[in-house]
Amino acid sequence: MKVLVIGGGGREHALAWKLARSERVQTVYVAPGNGGTATDPALKNLPLTDPQALADFAAAEKVALTVVGPEAPLAAGVVDLFRARGLRIFGPTKAAAQLESSKAFAKDFMQRHGIPTALYASFTDAAAAHAHVDKHGAPIVVKADGLAAGKGVVVAMTLQEAHDAIDDMLGANTLGVAHVEGQARVVIEDFLEGEEASFIVACDGRHVLALATSQDHKRIGEGDTGPNTGGMGAYSPAPVVTPNVHARVMQEIVLPTVAGMAKDGMPFTGFLYAGLMIDAQGQPRTVEFNCRLGDPEAEVLLMRLKSDLFELLMHATDGTLDQVELQWDRRVALGVVMAAAGYPAAPRKGDVVEGLPAGSDELQVFHAGTTLADGRLLTSGGRVLCVTALGDSVRQAQLRALDAVRAIRFDGAQWRNDIGHRAIRH
Ligand code: AMP
Ligand code: GLY
Repeated sequence: MKVLVIGGGGREHALAWKLARSERVQTVYVAPGNGGTATDPALKNLPLTDPQALADFAAAEKVALTVVGPEAPLAAGVVDLFRARGLRIFGPTKAAAQLESSKAFAKDFMQRHGIPTALYASFTDAAAAHAHVDKHGAPIVVKADGLAAGKGVVVAMTLQEAHDAIDDMLGANTLGVAHVEGQARVVIEDFLEGEEASFIVACDGRHVLALATSQDHKRIGEGDTGPNTGGMGAYSPAPVVTPNVHARVMQEIVLPTVAGMAKDGMPFTGFLYAGLMIDAQGQPRTVEFNCRLGDPEAEVLLMRLKSDLFELLMHATDGTLDQVELQWDRRVALGVVMAAAGYPAAPRKGDVVEGLPAGSDELQVFHAGTTLADGRLLTSGGRVLCVTALGDSVRQAQLRALDAVRAIRFDGAQWRNDIGHRAIRH
Protein backbone atom coordinates (compact mmCIF):
# COMPACT_ATOMS: atom_id res chain seq x y z
CA MET A 1 0.00 0.00 0.00
CA LYS A 2 1.01 3.60 -0.58
CA VAL A 3 0.36 6.20 2.06
CA LEU A 4 0.69 9.97 2.05
CA VAL A 5 1.54 12.18 5.01
CA ILE A 6 0.70 15.87 4.54
CA GLY A 7 3.06 18.26 6.31
CA GLY A 8 6.74 18.82 6.84
CA GLY A 9 7.51 19.06 10.54
CA GLY A 10 8.72 16.78 13.31
CA ARG A 11 5.25 15.34 13.82
CA GLU A 12 5.03 14.40 10.14
CA HIS A 13 8.52 12.87 10.17
CA ALA A 14 7.44 10.74 13.14
CA LEU A 15 4.14 9.77 11.45
CA ALA A 16 5.96 8.78 8.27
CA TRP A 17 8.68 6.89 10.17
CA LYS A 18 6.05 4.91 12.07
CA LEU A 19 3.89 4.21 8.99
CA ALA A 20 6.95 2.93 7.12
CA ARG A 21 7.35 0.25 9.80
CA SER A 22 3.98 -1.28 8.97
CA GLU A 23 4.14 -4.56 7.06
CA ARG A 24 1.29 -3.45 4.82
CA VAL A 25 2.94 -0.21 3.79
CA GLN A 26 5.20 -0.20 0.78
CA THR A 27 5.77 3.50 0.12
CA VAL A 28 5.34 6.55 2.33
CA TYR A 29 5.15 9.93 0.60
CA VAL A 30 5.62 13.05 2.68
CA ALA A 31 4.38 16.34 1.22
CA PRO A 32 6.36 18.52 1.36
CA GLY A 33 8.51 16.77 3.98
CA ASN A 34 11.85 18.08 5.20
CA GLY A 35 15.57 17.25 5.24
CA GLY A 36 14.99 14.29 7.55
CA THR A 37 12.30 12.67 5.43
CA ALA A 38 14.45 13.38 2.35
CA THR A 39 17.40 11.41 3.76
CA ASP A 40 15.38 8.46 5.09
CA PRO A 41 15.48 5.78 2.37
CA ALA A 42 12.06 4.46 3.48
CA LEU A 43 10.36 7.81 2.72
CA LYS A 44 9.81 9.92 -0.39
CA ASN A 45 9.32 13.67 -0.35
CA LEU A 46 6.75 15.24 -2.65
CA PRO A 47 7.14 18.93 -3.43
CA LEU A 48 3.39 19.62 -3.15
CA THR A 49 1.29 21.64 -0.71
CA ASP A 50 -1.78 22.65 -2.71
CA PRO A 51 -4.74 20.48 -1.59
CA GLN A 52 -6.01 20.01 -5.16
CA ALA A 53 -2.57 18.91 -6.36
CA LEU A 54 -2.29 16.50 -3.42
CA ALA A 55 -5.68 14.98 -4.24
CA ASP A 56 -4.65 14.64 -7.91
CA PHE A 57 -1.50 12.84 -6.81
CA ALA A 58 -3.34 10.54 -4.38
CA ALA A 59 -5.85 9.61 -7.10
CA ALA A 60 -3.24 9.06 -9.83
CA GLU A 61 -0.90 7.02 -7.61
CA LYS A 62 -3.71 5.04 -5.95
CA VAL A 63 -2.66 6.15 -2.47
CA ALA A 64 -4.56 3.95 0.00
CA LEU A 65 -4.56 6.39 2.90
CA THR A 66 -3.65 10.01 3.52
CA VAL A 67 -3.03 11.43 6.98
CA VAL A 68 -2.82 15.15 7.68
CA GLY A 69 -0.31 16.42 10.25
CA PRO A 70 -0.72 20.20 10.66
CA GLU A 71 -3.77 22.36 11.31
CA ALA A 72 -3.46 24.71 8.31
CA PRO A 73 -4.49 22.24 5.57
CA LEU A 74 -7.27 20.92 7.83
CA ALA A 75 -8.61 24.43 8.41
CA ALA A 76 -8.42 24.95 4.64
CA GLY A 77 -10.66 21.91 4.03
CA VAL A 78 -8.25 19.31 2.66
CA VAL A 79 -10.30 16.50 4.23
CA ASP A 80 -13.54 17.71 2.60
CA LEU A 81 -11.77 17.89 -0.74
CA PHE A 82 -10.29 14.37 -0.57
CA ARG A 83 -13.59 12.87 0.59
CA ALA A 84 -15.52 14.57 -2.19
CA ARG A 85 -13.19 12.76 -4.59
CA GLY A 86 -13.63 9.41 -2.84
CA LEU A 87 -10.11 9.40 -1.37
CA ARG A 88 -9.45 7.95 2.07
CA ILE A 89 -8.05 10.54 4.45
CA PHE A 90 -7.71 10.80 8.23
CA GLY A 91 -8.40 14.18 9.77
CA PRO A 92 -11.30 16.48 10.63
CA THR A 93 -13.41 18.35 8.10
CA LYS A 94 -13.07 22.11 7.80
CA ALA A 95 -16.17 22.53 9.97
CA ALA A 96 -14.87 20.21 12.71
CA ALA A 97 -11.40 21.77 12.58
CA GLN A 98 -12.94 24.99 13.92
CA LEU A 99 -12.41 23.46 17.35
CA GLU A 100 -8.83 24.60 16.82
CA SER A 101 -8.97 27.20 14.07
CA SER A 102 -11.40 29.46 15.93
CA LYS A 103 -10.98 29.96 19.65
CA ALA A 104 -14.38 31.72 19.76
CA PHE A 105 -16.02 28.64 18.16
CA ALA A 106 -14.28 26.33 20.64
CA LYS A 107 -15.26 28.44 23.62
CA ASP A 108 -18.92 28.72 22.53
CA PHE A 109 -18.96 24.98 21.88
CA MET A 110 -17.59 24.16 25.33
CA GLN A 111 -20.04 26.50 27.03
CA ARG A 112 -22.98 25.03 25.09
CA HIS A 113 -22.02 21.47 25.97
CA GLY A 114 -20.98 22.05 29.57
CA ILE A 115 -17.31 21.18 29.05
CA PRO A 116 -15.10 22.55 31.82
CA THR A 117 -12.90 25.45 30.68
CA ALA A 118 -11.90 28.98 31.75
CA LEU A 119 -14.56 31.71 31.61
CA TYR A 120 -14.01 34.00 28.67
CA ALA A 121 -15.22 36.94 26.61
CA SER A 122 -14.45 37.72 22.99
CA PHE A 123 -13.77 41.19 21.53
CA THR A 124 -13.16 42.89 18.21
CA ASP A 125 -13.22 46.37 19.80
CA ALA A 126 -9.98 47.35 21.58
CA ALA A 127 -11.60 49.81 24.01
CA ALA A 128 -14.05 47.16 25.22
CA ALA A 129 -11.21 44.63 25.59
CA HIS A 130 -9.12 47.09 27.63
CA ALA A 131 -12.10 47.86 29.88
CA HIS A 132 -12.69 44.13 30.42
CA VAL A 133 -9.09 43.59 31.48
CA ASP A 134 -9.19 46.57 33.88
CA LYS A 135 -12.33 45.16 35.46
CA HIS A 136 -10.96 41.62 35.89
CA GLY A 137 -7.35 42.33 36.83
CA ALA A 138 -4.26 40.17 36.35
CA PRO A 139 -3.20 37.44 35.88
CA ILE A 140 -5.38 37.11 32.82
CA VAL A 141 -4.94 35.41 29.44
CA VAL A 142 -5.23 37.19 26.06
CA LYS A 143 -5.54 35.05 22.93
CA ALA A 144 -5.66 36.03 19.29
CA ASP A 145 -8.53 34.27 17.51
CA GLY A 146 -6.98 32.47 14.56
CA LEU A 147 -4.11 30.21 13.66
CA ALA A 148 -0.83 31.28 15.21
CA ALA A 149 1.24 28.09 15.43
CA GLY A 150 0.94 28.12 19.22
CA LYS A 151 2.24 31.67 19.58
CA GLY A 152 -0.95 33.78 19.69
CA VAL A 153 -1.41 33.51 23.46
CA VAL A 154 -0.17 35.89 26.12
CA VAL A 155 -0.46 34.77 29.73
CA ALA A 156 -0.35 38.25 31.24
CA MET A 157 0.88 38.37 34.81
CA THR A 158 0.39 42.16 34.89
CA LEU A 159 -2.30 44.52 33.55
CA GLN A 160 0.29 46.25 31.38
CA GLU A 161 1.16 43.00 29.59
CA ALA A 162 -2.54 42.36 28.98
CA HIS A 163 -3.10 45.84 27.52
CA ASP A 164 -0.03 45.53 25.30
CA ALA A 165 -1.23 42.15 24.04
CA ILE A 166 -4.64 43.56 23.13
CA ASP A 167 -3.08 46.48 21.26
CA ASP A 168 -0.85 44.11 19.35
CA MET A 169 -3.47 41.50 18.50
CA LEU A 170 -6.12 44.01 17.45
CA GLY A 171 -3.55 46.33 15.84
CA ALA A 172 -0.02 45.73 14.61
CA ASN A 173 -0.37 41.93 14.84
CA THR A 174 3.37 41.33 15.26
CA LEU A 175 2.62 37.68 16.12
CA GLY A 176 1.30 37.29 12.57
CA VAL A 177 -1.97 35.58 13.46
CA ALA A 178 -4.13 34.50 10.52
CA HIS A 179 -7.45 36.20 11.27
CA VAL A 180 -10.74 34.31 11.02
CA GLU A 181 -12.79 35.75 8.13
CA GLY A 182 -10.46 38.74 7.90
CA GLN A 183 -11.49 40.01 11.33
CA ALA A 184 -9.04 40.57 14.18
CA ARG A 185 -10.55 39.28 17.40
CA VAL A 186 -9.24 38.49 20.86
CA VAL A 187 -10.49 36.05 23.44
CA ILE A 188 -9.78 37.10 27.02
CA GLU A 189 -10.07 34.39 29.64
CA ASP A 190 -9.51 33.65 33.30
CA PHE A 191 -6.11 32.42 34.31
CA LEU A 192 -6.19 28.73 35.22
CA GLU A 193 -3.87 27.42 37.91
CA GLY A 194 -2.45 23.90 37.78
CA GLU A 195 -0.33 21.52 35.73
CA GLU A 196 -0.79 21.04 32.01
CA ALA A 197 -1.08 17.77 30.11
CA SER A 198 -1.83 16.81 26.54
CA PHE A 199 -4.67 14.34 26.14
CA ILE A 200 -4.91 13.06 22.59
CA VAL A 201 -7.46 10.63 21.18
CA ALA A 202 -8.23 9.19 17.77
CA CYS A 203 -11.87 9.63 16.66
CA ASP A 204 -13.81 8.05 13.81
CA GLY A 205 -16.86 10.30 14.25
CA ARG A 206 -18.47 8.00 16.83
CA HIS A 207 -15.84 6.01 18.70
CA VAL A 208 -12.93 7.33 20.67
CA LEU A 209 -9.59 5.67 21.29
CA ALA A 210 -7.32 7.37 23.82
CA LEU A 211 -3.61 7.49 23.04
CA ALA A 212 -1.01 7.46 25.81
CA THR A 213 -0.78 10.66 27.84
CA SER A 214 1.95 13.22 27.31
CA GLN A 215 3.09 16.63 28.39
CA ASP A 216 5.00 19.28 26.53
CA HIS A 217 7.01 22.33 27.59
CA LYS A 218 5.78 25.42 25.76
CA ARG A 219 8.13 28.07 27.13
CA ILE A 220 11.48 28.72 25.47
CA GLY A 221 13.46 28.85 28.72
CA GLU A 222 14.46 26.39 31.42
CA GLY A 223 12.18 26.34 34.42
CA ASP A 224 9.28 27.03 32.01
CA THR A 225 10.11 30.73 31.62
CA GLY A 226 10.11 33.17 28.71
CA PRO A 227 7.90 33.39 25.63
CA ASN A 228 5.57 30.61 24.47
CA THR A 229 6.77 28.48 21.58
CA GLY A 230 5.27 25.65 19.57
CA GLY A 231 6.84 23.29 22.15
CA MET A 232 10.44 22.81 23.29
CA GLY A 233 10.14 19.16 24.29
CA ALA A 234 7.72 16.53 25.51
CA TYR A 235 7.49 13.25 27.34
CA SER A 236 5.06 10.38 27.71
CA PRO A 237 3.42 9.22 29.93
CA ALA A 238 2.39 12.29 31.96
CA PRO A 239 2.23 11.24 35.64
CA VAL A 240 -0.17 14.12 36.41
CA VAL A 241 -2.83 12.16 34.52
CA THR A 242 -3.54 9.56 37.20
CA PRO A 243 -6.12 6.85 36.47
CA ASN A 244 -8.70 8.97 38.27
CA VAL A 245 -7.86 12.10 36.26
CA HIS A 246 -7.89 10.00 33.08
CA ALA A 247 -11.42 8.80 33.80
CA ARG A 248 -12.59 12.35 34.52
CA VAL A 249 -11.06 13.68 31.30
CA MET A 250 -12.86 11.01 29.27
CA GLN A 251 -16.22 11.51 31.04
CA GLU A 252 -16.20 15.28 31.44
CA ILE A 253 -14.29 16.47 28.37
CA VAL A 254 -13.55 14.00 25.57
CA LEU A 255 -16.79 12.02 25.32
CA PRO A 256 -19.06 15.10 25.61
CA THR A 257 -16.96 16.83 22.96
CA VAL A 258 -17.22 14.00 20.46
CA ALA A 259 -20.94 13.55 21.20
CA GLY A 260 -21.47 17.32 20.96
CA MET A 261 -19.72 17.61 17.61
CA ALA A 262 -21.86 14.77 16.21
CA LYS A 263 -25.01 16.37 17.60
CA ASP A 264 -24.05 19.72 16.06
CA GLY A 265 -23.73 18.04 12.66
CA MET A 266 -19.92 18.08 12.53
CA PRO A 267 -18.85 14.58 13.57
CA PHE A 268 -15.20 14.70 14.57
CA THR A 269 -12.85 12.43 12.68
CA GLY A 270 -9.12 12.65 13.23
CA PHE A 271 -6.84 13.19 16.19
CA LEU A 272 -8.44 15.34 18.84
CA TYR A 273 -6.05 16.96 21.27
CA ALA A 274 -7.36 18.42 24.50
CA GLY A 275 -4.81 20.69 26.15
CA LEU A 276 -5.65 20.35 29.83
CA MET A 277 -4.98 22.24 33.02
CA ILE A 278 -5.29 19.92 36.00
CA ASP A 279 -5.70 21.64 39.35
CA ALA A 280 -4.51 20.45 42.76
CA GLN A 281 -7.84 18.63 43.32
CA GLY A 282 -7.44 16.66 40.08
CA GLN A 283 -10.16 18.63 38.27
CA PRO A 284 -9.28 18.84 34.56
CA ARG A 285 -10.24 21.91 32.52
CA THR A 286 -9.77 22.42 28.81
CA VAL A 287 -7.26 25.12 27.91
CA GLU A 288 -7.63 24.51 24.19
CA PHE A 289 -8.55 21.96 21.60
CA ASN A 290 -6.31 21.05 18.69
CA CYS A 291 -7.64 19.06 15.78
CA ARG A 292 -4.39 17.15 15.19
CA LEU A 293 -1.55 15.42 17.00
CA GLY A 294 0.64 17.71 19.07
CA ASP A 295 4.15 18.51 18.02
CA PRO A 296 6.42 17.44 19.82
CA GLU A 297 3.87 15.17 21.55
CA ALA A 298 3.53 13.05 18.39
CA GLU A 299 7.23 12.24 18.40
CA VAL A 300 7.17 10.78 21.92
CA LEU A 301 3.81 9.05 21.45
CA LEU A 302 4.80 7.37 18.20
CA MET A 303 8.12 6.31 19.71
CA ARG A 304 6.13 4.44 22.40
CA LEU A 305 3.37 3.06 20.14
CA LYS A 306 3.96 -0.64 19.50
CA SER A 307 0.80 -1.25 17.48
CA ASP A 308 0.65 -0.81 13.73
CA LEU A 309 -0.26 2.81 12.94
CA PHE A 310 -1.50 1.97 9.45
CA GLU A 311 -4.01 -0.54 10.89
CA LEU A 312 -5.14 2.04 13.43
CA LEU A 313 -5.75 4.66 10.74
CA MET A 314 -7.57 2.20 8.47
CA HIS A 315 -9.97 1.39 11.33
CA ALA A 316 -10.29 5.10 12.11
CA THR A 317 -11.33 5.83 8.51
CA ASP A 318 -13.68 2.82 8.41
CA GLY A 319 -15.54 3.88 11.57
CA THR A 320 -14.38 0.78 13.47
CA LEU A 321 -12.08 2.24 16.12
CA ASP A 322 -14.06 0.29 18.71
CA GLN A 323 -12.29 -2.82 17.39
CA VAL A 324 -8.79 -1.49 18.14
CA GLU A 325 -6.68 -1.88 21.24
CA LEU A 326 -3.31 -0.18 21.32
CA GLN A 327 -0.07 -1.55 22.76
CA TRP A 328 2.42 0.91 24.25
CA ASP A 329 6.06 0.51 25.18
CA ARG A 330 6.24 0.54 28.99
CA ARG A 331 9.28 2.80 28.85
CA VAL A 332 9.20 6.58 29.03
CA ALA A 333 9.75 8.51 25.80
CA LEU A 334 11.24 11.99 26.03
CA GLY A 335 11.96 14.42 23.20
CA VAL A 336 14.23 17.46 23.37
CA VAL A 337 13.65 20.08 20.67
CA MET A 338 16.69 21.79 19.20
CA ALA A 339 15.60 25.20 17.91
CA ALA A 340 17.28 27.68 15.59
CA ALA A 341 19.06 30.84 16.68
CA GLY A 342 16.51 33.60 17.23
CA TYR A 343 13.55 31.27 17.85
CA PRO A 344 10.72 32.00 18.59
CA ALA A 345 10.79 35.68 17.56
CA ALA A 346 12.93 35.52 14.41
CA PRO A 347 14.47 32.12 13.69
CA ARG A 348 17.54 32.16 11.49
CA LYS A 349 17.74 29.77 8.54
CA GLY A 350 20.61 28.22 6.64
CA ASP A 351 22.89 26.94 9.41
CA VAL A 352 24.64 23.64 8.65
CA VAL A 353 23.51 20.71 10.82
CA GLU A 354 26.12 18.06 11.67
CA GLY A 355 26.71 15.20 14.06
CA LEU A 356 23.36 13.42 13.72
CA PRO A 357 23.45 9.98 15.33
CA ALA A 358 22.11 6.86 13.64
CA GLY A 359 18.62 5.94 14.82
CA SER A 360 18.16 2.94 17.12
CA ASP A 361 15.46 1.22 19.14
CA GLU A 362 16.18 3.74 21.90
CA LEU A 363 16.85 6.93 19.98
CA GLN A 364 15.37 8.71 16.97
CA VAL A 365 16.05 12.19 15.68
CA PHE A 366 12.93 13.56 14.05
CA HIS A 367 13.50 16.54 11.79
CA ALA A 368 11.25 19.57 11.98
CA GLY A 369 12.90 22.53 10.26
CA THR A 370 15.65 21.12 8.07
CA THR A 371 16.20 21.03 4.36
CA LEU A 372 18.62 19.07 2.22
CA ALA A 373 20.60 21.29 -0.16
CA ASP A 374 23.45 19.90 -2.29
CA GLY A 375 23.85 16.97 0.08
CA ARG A 376 24.09 19.22 3.14
CA LEU A 377 21.51 19.46 5.88
CA LEU A 378 20.55 23.08 6.67
CA THR A 379 18.24 24.60 9.25
CA SER A 380 15.05 25.95 7.66
CA GLY A 381 12.63 26.69 10.47
CA GLY A 382 12.21 27.61 14.12
CA ARG A 383 12.20 24.14 15.57
CA VAL A 384 14.94 22.22 13.81
CA LEU A 385 15.06 18.74 15.39
CA CYS A 386 13.30 16.71 18.05
CA VAL A 387 15.78 14.30 19.62
CA THR A 388 13.64 11.52 21.09
CA ALA A 389 14.76 8.74 23.41
CA LEU A 390 13.23 5.85 25.33
CA GLY A 391 14.35 5.04 28.86
CA ASP A 392 13.33 3.07 31.91
CA SER A 393 12.76 6.34 33.76
CA VAL A 394 12.19 9.97 32.82
CA ARG A 395 15.72 10.72 33.96
CA GLN A 396 17.23 7.96 31.84
CA ALA A 397 15.31 8.99 28.74
CA GLN A 398 16.32 12.61 29.36
CA LEU A 399 20.03 11.76 29.75
CA ARG A 400 19.94 9.63 26.62
CA ALA A 401 18.29 12.39 24.58
CA LEU A 402 20.66 15.06 25.92
CA ASP A 403 23.74 12.95 25.13
CA ALA A 404 22.63 12.91 21.51
CA VAL A 405 21.71 16.61 21.56
CA ARG A 406 25.22 17.57 22.71
CA ALA A 407 26.79 15.68 19.83
CA ILE A 408 24.63 17.48 17.24
CA ARG A 409 25.97 20.79 16.00
CA PHE A 410 24.53 23.87 14.32
CA ASP A 411 25.28 27.53 15.01
CA GLY A 412 23.02 29.13 17.58
CA ALA A 413 21.25 25.90 18.57
CA GLN A 414 18.91 26.37 21.54
CA TRP A 415 17.51 23.61 23.69
CA ARG A 416 16.35 23.00 27.23
CA ASN A 417 18.22 20.66 29.58
CA ASP A 418 15.20 20.28 31.89
CA ILE A 419 12.55 18.65 29.68
CA GLY A 420 10.54 16.32 31.90
CA HIS A 421 11.49 18.09 35.14
CA ARG A 422 7.92 17.96 36.47
CA ALA A 423 7.99 14.19 36.22
CA ILE A 424 11.41 13.74 37.84
CA ARG A 425 11.39 13.35 41.62
CA HIS A 426 14.21 15.34 43.19
P1 AMP B 1 -3.26 27.76 23.91
O1 AMP B 1 -2.67 28.09 22.58
O2 AMP B 1 -4.65 28.20 24.12
O3 AMP B 1 -3.01 26.35 24.29
O4 AMP B 1 -2.34 28.50 24.98
C1 AMP B 1 -0.95 28.31 25.02
C2 AMP B 1 -0.48 28.18 26.44
O5 AMP B 1 -0.85 29.30 27.21
C3 AMP B 1 -1.10 27.01 27.16
O6 AMP B 1 -0.46 25.82 26.92
C4 AMP B 1 -0.96 27.44 28.60
O7 AMP B 1 0.36 27.23 29.05
C5 AMP B 1 -1.20 28.91 28.54
N1 AMP B 1 -2.62 29.20 28.78
C6 AMP B 1 -3.59 29.32 27.85
N2 AMP B 1 -4.78 29.59 28.43
C7 AMP B 1 -4.56 29.64 29.75
C8 AMP B 1 -5.40 29.90 30.88
N3 AMP B 1 -6.71 30.18 30.76
N4 AMP B 1 -4.83 29.89 32.11
C9 AMP B 1 -3.51 29.63 32.25
N5 AMP B 1 -2.67 29.40 31.22
C10 AMP B 1 -3.18 29.41 29.99
N1 GLY C 1 2.85 21.06 21.40
C1 GLY C 1 1.66 21.80 21.35
C2 GLY C 1 0.95 21.72 20.09
O1 GLY C 1 1.22 20.91 19.22
O2 GLY C 1 0.01 22.48 19.92
